[in-house]
Amino acid sequence: MSETAHFALEGNLMARPMLETLGPRHVAIIMDGNGRWATMRGRPRLFGHHAGARRVREVVEACPDYGVKYLTIFAFSTENWKRTQVEVAGLMSLFRRYIMKEMQAFVKENVRVRFIGDRPRLDAKLRALMDEAEDFTKHCTGVNLTIALNYGGRDEVARAAQRLAMDVKEGKLDPAEIDVETLPRYLDTCFLPDPDLVVRTSGEARISNFLLWQSAYAEYEFIDTLWPDFTPEELGRLCAAFGGRDRRYGAVKA
Ligand code: FPP
Repeated sequence: MSETAHFALEGNLMARPMLETLGPRHVAIIMDGNGRWATMRGRPRLFGHHAGARRVREVVEACPDYGVKYLTIFAFSTENWKRTQVEVAGLMSLFRRYIMKEMQAFVKENVRVRFIGDRPRLDAKLRALMDEAEDFTKHCTGVNLTIALNYGGRDEVARAAQRLAMDVKEGKLDPAEIDVETLPRYLDTCFLPDPDLVVRTSGEARISNFLLWQSAYAEYEFIDTLWPDFTPEELGRLCAAFGGRDRRYGAVKA
């Protein structure tokens, strides 16, 4: 498949200046509440997922205004396959259409898109679009958008352990050298800094297997807003609140 089979670049790149702040550089979001948002309106759950997908771009585009250089969003978990066949198929179709529709806009906004998660279980067409999107946006130097698709934190650590064991078996790695610096290099997120702030929408106070290793020192915000109602202004408020927090990473204040 050619690099631009599904999306071709038109127009100029808009390099938006990134604000330097004391706020979080890496924000990770568990986008929850689409189903309830739809049910409250008497509509099927997929209606909520479509509304949720429409929210993503404006939140990504607001990131430079708040100094957020990395945004990681949880789109589909390794546990979400347990949903009905209709919902799973609808979500997969939404992801395919989303990639085809949004990548040009992301390039214009200088947004680099990457995916984390276990890809082999996804269908070939979706995997090809994911590869294409990563390739198409790889020159972008603004916001780094990472989409977690068929992602689970435990699954990621297990896959990393497999690759690590393979390197030991092949004599590329000495087991005595494996430490907290080594393991993250085998994680899906090896290209990302750890998240500073993890947000979960919809009032649930759980982390649901999201970025387990990476969030060891993250700040958490559990907010009541359902994802389709989440706004750039709310992101701004969360970033401002983060700026006032005292992060000690296990040490005591000097
Ligand atoms: C959780 O809400 C949401 C999901 C499992 C899917 C998330 C997907 C999107 C926001 C849209 C697509 C995203 C991209 C990047 C195209 P839920 O269905 O569990 O809500 P509920 O708890 O109210 O049932």
